[in-house]
Amino acid sequence: MKVIAGNPYLKKDQGKIYFDELEYSNLEKDFSTPYYVFLENRIKDNINIFNSVFSSHFERYEGFYSFKANYLHEICRIIKEGNFGAEIISLPELELALKLNFSPNKIIVGGIYLTDQLILKCLDNNIKEIIAYSLLDIKRINDLAKNYNKTQKICLRINSGKYEARLGVEINESTIEKLHLILAECKNIELTTILSHFSTQMNSIDLLKKNCVSLLTSLKKLQKNLHIDIKNINFGGGFPEAVVFKKGRLENFALSVKKLLQEYDFSHLNVYFEPGRFLVGDAGILISKIINITDNRWIFLNIGNHIVPKFARCNLRFYNLNNLNESYNTKTSIAGIIPSDQDVLAKDYYFTPTLKIGDRVLISNVGAYCLTFSNRFPYRLPAILLVKSKEYKTIFNPTKHQDFSL
Ligand SMILES: Cc1ncc(COP(=O)(O)O)c(C=O)c1O
Repeated sequence: MKVIAGNPYLKKDQGKIYFDELEYSNLEKDFSTPYYVFLENRIKDNINIFNSVFSSHFERYEGFYSFKANYLHEICRIIKEGNFGAEIISLPELELALKLNFSPNKIIVGGIYLTDQLILKCLDNNIKEIIAYSLLDIKRINDLAKNYNKTQKICLRINSGKYEARLGVEINESTIEKLHLILAECKNIELTTILSHFSTQMNSIDLLKKNCVSLLTSLKKLQKNLHIDIKNINFGGGFPEAVVFKKGRLENFALSVKKLLQEYDFSHLNVYFEPGRFLVGDAGILISKIINITDNRWIFLNIGNHIVPKFARCNLRFYNLNNLNESYNTKTSIAGIIPSDQDVLAKDYYFTPTLKIGDRVLISNVGAYCLTFSNRFPYRLPAILLVKSKEYKTIFNPTKHQDFSL
């Protein structure tokens, strides 16, 4: 048995291809390409890996899945069943999380665009904490909480200090002074958490650590100048797909964070993470087909950047399902079907020497951000299937359902 794309749920055995325990030929009979396949058991494994690593190193660790990575109802249901919390940025996401019965105590909500409606929904539902990206938003939350006669727990997003980072509050003399005044004035909020999220796809422990150091340094400054009782530290997300960032590296990173917390004297804090891609990225694959081949080995697939956008920053891998035995040794460039020369999926990618029009091409690692960043280019949307062991169900059928967005 051979594993495809390093993913134990994609296998080849005696000439047959399996998605989990389901034989791929069953899907080929019923679905025309392109179609997405999500692997339920892979998401469950990723949750278990993430939770086991961080809970073995931190007594008080909590994980919050970043819904924006993939907000399909069925995907979020699996996350909920894995007993993971939710990190939410918008009202439709919050409504989905509540509908799925995420406990309000396991939901954190916030972002760059905090509408009154979203804040009110949080207050109404006793959401664990609201994340403010600006000092102004703290005041707005306070005013709305006052009307409710409530005290709302707040997380402040700190600017990560990454070059050209614009999100979050930079901690300097001026902002500390402003925060001091705001906290003195705002009696209906309690600042309990600080957060920094550096970037996505951080395939380097040093980069992940940089985010932690930046956050811990900011917290030191805050504690020196203000009498605040920060209880939780949220290091955000940013991990690559689990097939890329293996358990051993996650362990090494967890150990580094533990050491940093000790060095900065913050070991008593609760530790939060907000992974998105790590949990779902490698649980999504797309089955496409070759529709054209040029003499200089450009192949055109019947998908494109409208459904696998560059913006999603996935570690895309391509496999010729009609030709799995050949070595991947021949440089091939891969284009999509948006009528623009910019619709390039990969350049000089090592692919099978033999290829023909109609060959099925599996694209791995498309579980995170592809659907959320996809756009309305006028091709039919792909069907979306959820596979678990030998079974599968259609969770989105483009001929019946209008759209999969919230
Ligand atoms: C604040 C915050 N937390 C978590 C995430 C999830 O990131 P990732 O999917 O890279 O883990 C993001 C993604 O943009 C984010 O902005």
